[in-house]
Amino acid sequence: MEREFKRIRIAVLASGRGSNLAAIIEAAQSGKLDGEVVVVISNKADAGALNIARQYNIPTLHLSREQFSTEEEFDTAFLRAFEKYQVDIIALAGYMKKLSAKIVRAYKNKILNIHPALLPAFGGKGMYGLKVHQAVLDYGCKVTGVTVHIVDEEYDTGPPVLQECVPVYPEDTPESLAARVLEVEHRLYPQALQLFAEGRIEVQGRKVIVK
Ligand code: GRF
Repeated sequence: MEREFKRIRIAVLASGRGSNLAAIIEAAQSGKLDGEVVVVISNKADAGALNIARQYNIPTLHLSREQFSTEEEFDTAFLRAFEKYQVDIIALAGYMKKLSAKIVRAYKNKILNIHPALLPAFGGKGMYGLKVHQAVLDYGCKVTGVTVHIVDEEYDTGPPVLQECVPVYPEDTPESLAARVLEVEHRLYPQALQLFAEGRIEVQGRKVIVK
């Protein structure tokens, strides 16, 4: 059977620093990812991610709920942007807001998120940034990791696409652990996106089959 190879058009949604965004852009530019980041959207006007996008001449958008009078108008702004840039895949990379059910349904199985732990452990609302790594250390875990998963209507509950373990060492601080996990994130997110580009992903209920 012939595989459908496609240069996927990716929208990245980010609220902060943007190191995963940078890793995705670099993977695309170096040919490791058959795709292109076509728009970067943030709920924060001063997000580092928007600056990174500008450095690469990628269109940026600042969309936050306060700019719109209704939830529907807010959703429409996202959907219009995705249509305008002919987006195939939406990658949440440190995006701190929940997308509405309407958007999740419109892009079913086409929205990904990255989480800096092995879900379902250490995930859910309020579990972000150093809090995740602090919780892993407090629990005394010997391993943690990275999860790239499909986004559903809740926080961090969609089926995993790729997961990778990262060791926890006795001398770790939340910061040292975050740095070790982040290195893996930067490799795993482009890898997961490449599976979509290669048409190798099939979602069967909670199981993401890599063909
Ligand atoms: C990453 O640790 C990611 O797993 C989490 O938020 C962080 C974003 O970092 N969802 P960056 O903005 O990509 O540098």
